[in-house]
Amino acid sequence: MERDKNIVLIGFMGTGKTTVGKIVAQKIGFDFIDVDETIERLTGMKISDIFSKFGEARFRDIETEIIKLITKKTGQVIATGGGAVLRDENIQALKKNGIIFCLEASEEVIFERVKESTDRPLLKVEKPLERIRELLCQRKSRYGLSDFVINTDRLTINEVAEKIVREFARLKNGQN
Ligand code: S3P
Repeated sequence: MERDKNIVLIGFMGTGKTTVGKIVAQKIGFDFIDVDETIERLTGMKISDIFSKFGEARFRDIETEIIKLITKKTGQVIATGGGAVLRDENIQALKKNGIIFCLEASEEVIFERVKESTDRPLLKVEKPLERIRELLCQRKSRYGLSDFVINTDRLTINEVAEKIVREFARLKNGQN
């Protein structure tokens, strides 16, 4: 596979961006980059500590900087954090040389997948399912900015990955 573009995965927390992204990268020989993991590595801090010490706005600034850095290269599968879609400049940077796939899941499936997680500061609230509903509603139009949407509820991780590989080849040819 030519390495002149990136595959970008967007979508809510718990939709499988990181897990699927690693498999896609392996299948097509691209590098795998996780935005949250890069933030933690470069700042030396856990995401939840960045939120608690500096607040969400500062986290979003760091996220934007890291996305700018990562999108300088191609031949990568980039897994973004669930809120990376909130800023137009992030979307622009990711779209410039990437095809964007949005992974979707129902709120119940998301809740099941994230309920044991300790590193998702936005869901550390009394009623996480309600919070998930609220955030999904607020972000719906932002996730709609993708080139292709995949509902993951009834698919295995491998099926989602295969779908992305197939659609990437098709969409990439369409753009050339
Ligand atoms: C966030 C999602 C998280 C992480 C941060 C904020 C969000 O990433 O970036 O906690 O705003 O949805 P994941 O989607 O990988 O959990």
